[in-house]
Order: sequence, then C-alpha cells, then structure tokens
Amino acid sequence: MLHVLNHPLASHVVTHLRDKTTRPATFRTLCYQITLLLAIEASRDLPLENKPIETPLEPFVGPVLSHQPLVVVPILRAGVGMVQPFLDIFPDISVGYIGLERDHATAVARNYYCKLPPIASHSRVLLVDPMLATGGSAVQAIQIVRAQGASAVSLVSIVSAPEGVAAVEQNFPDVRIFTAALDRQLNAQKYILPGLGDFGDRLYGT
Ligand code: PRP
Ligand code: URA
Repeated sequence: MLHVLNHPLASHVVTHLRDKTTRPATFRTLCYQITLLLAIEASRDLPLENKPIETPLEPFVGPVLSHQPLVVVPILRAGVGMVQPFLDIFPDISVGYIGLERDHATAVARNYYCKLPPIASHSRVLLVDPMLATGGSAVQAIQIVRAQGASAVSLVSIVSAPEGVAAVEQNFPDVRIFTAALDRQLNAQKYILPGLGDFGDRLYGT
C-alpha cells in the first residue's frame, strides 16, 4: 500500500528540502509545494458523481466530486505545515489535530493532545506528518483515528524510512501510505538517512 511520488518536480523539491542551507521561509514554501503534489496523489481515487450543467453552448453531464466527508489530521507539530494545501484544494475538508512528540532519548512518541471532528464510517481520513521514521507516531495516530470510527485512512508523509513503512504495513495493512521519498535507513538516534534533519525545527526555525 506504499505509493512513492514519481515526478521530477517532487524530486526537485525534496532535494531542496534536504539541503541544510535551505532557510525556514523557503522550507515552508517547499513544504507547501510537495504537500500539494501529495494531496493530489492521495486523492486520485476520490469518488465522482455526474452533475448535469449547462455550458455556454449546450447541456452537459460532467463528473464532480461526490460528497465523501474528508478529514485531514496533522500530527503536531510538524504536520501543521502540511494542512494548507489540503484546505486550498478541498475547501470543505474538516481538520483534526493529534499531538505526538518523540522522546529524544528513546524515540518513543508521547500523545499530548487530541482534538478530532466527528468522523463517520464513510469519511476519508488523511493523516499528515512529514516524517515517517520508526513509524511509532504514525501507528499511534492511526490507532486514535480508528478508535474514533475511521475506516478509510491514508497516511501522507514527505520522507519515509523503510522501518516506518514496515511498522505501518505490519499494524495496518489496509492503510495507504503516500510519500515523496523512500529513504535508506534510520541512524542510531532514529533519524532518517539521508533525510532532512528535524522537520519541525527546520519548518519553524527552532
Ligand atoms: C517528528 C515527525 C513525526 C515523528 C516521526 O516529530 O514530525 O511526528 O517525529 O518519527 P517516528 O516515525 O519515529 O515516530 P517530533 O516527535 O520530532 O515532534 P515535532 O513535530 O513536534 O517536532
Ligand atoms: N523526525 C524528524 O523530524 N526527522 C527525522 O529524521 C526523524 C523524525
């Protein structure tokens, strides 16, 4: 269920995100751009319905998105940087928040916040978090939205490690993962290699 973006623009943007000389303002712009590409890819199979309209020349029946409720859930804090592109292309999307923070020594994520909108069984939930490293944060977040009734869940990340992909696939084989880059491995501190460092720090200049 892993989909890796395959587009020259995506490769270009990810390289500039990786570059340690990229400053936060540019980093935020690049984050917007890559997330927009990911959002388009993650919504490729949205259901359509036919709508009768009139063009200026004649009647026409054309496909429009049908009304499947969409929910985007950023994992705080870095995931917040990925929300705006979803709001821009899906104006009716609801937003929920899950706060998870990795312990610096153990890399185990602690849940410190959760505020979710109502999730119907037919809603589509898009969890957004730029880094999928050990997968601990993603697995916890999926458990949380599943407990709220979500069945169709996709995970949208910018850079993923094989270890994180395996953890999600093992725990939730039906969750689709959309990522812009599948990297080599984790280092001893559970950072992704080659990666781009701490996404939240680079996004917010901390
Ligand atoms: C980062 C990232 C993910 C998590 C990934 O967040 O945004 O949430 O690490 O690592 P994992 O797959 O090993 O769980 P971090 O905990 O650094 O918090 P932050 O977004 O507040 O910086
Ligand atoms: N979180 C990050 O921000 N970067 C990593 O490489 C791993 C987890």
